[in-house]
Amino acid sequence: MLSAAPRLIVATRNAHKTAEIRSMLGGRFEVVDATAFPEFPEIEETGTTFLENARLKAEGISRLIDGWVLSDDSGLEVDALGGAPGVWSSSYGGEEGNNEKNNARLMTEMAGKTERGGRFVCTMVLAKDGKERANFSGAVEGDIIDEPRGSEGFGYDPLFIPTGYDRTFSELGDAVKNTLSHRSRALSQITAWLDINF
Ligand code: IMP
Repeated sequence: MLSAAPRLIVATRNAHKTAEIRSMLGGRFEVVDATAFPEFPEIEETGTTFLENARLKAEGISRLIDGWVLSDDSGLEVDALGGAPGVWSSSYGGEEGNNEKNNARLMTEMAGKTERGGRFVCTMVLAKDGKERANFSGAVEGDIIDEPRGSEGFGYDPLFIPTGYDRTFSELGDAVKNTLSHRSRALSQITAWLDINF
């Protein structure tokens, strides 16, 4: 007899993140995100590390709902900026979630800098019944360029060239990005963990 796939609630309202997670875990879970639960409160990201923020989101949502919850906290760390924007990536330009302003600030801060290296980092937490069950991290190294290039993706994608490529994440497109992104690397670890523990 066929049994229904277990449900995995992704603690995000970012459709790009949900699509990337669904493309990797959709075979074993019915992946839904926070847009299916408009009544859920926004969990404030008050942590100073990606792990603290991911934990706050996963544990907070899993206190309110039955089943497995997966959260993701991610951002861009730039070496010449001492690791900024880091956990403040989504509001770096002064307005939460405004990609244009975030990219404009990054270009201003990086103007004239010769050291261009940085990385996207992603930490994920799996929680159930209000408690963290496991956490995972992935990163992708690359360089920050001066002017945005490309039209796909989101966030800092138009300014980021992954190491070993000569095009930005926005130019490479989601199909290529999903094979090497920080998020896909964290998700590969989850897949391995699920194979052992689920
Ligand atoms: P979060 O939603 O709190 O994880 O914030 C992540 C922020 O980091 C986003 O708003 C983007 O600015 C940036 N970011 C995270 N992942 C990516 C990515 O894959 N591409 C481009 N920007 C990203």
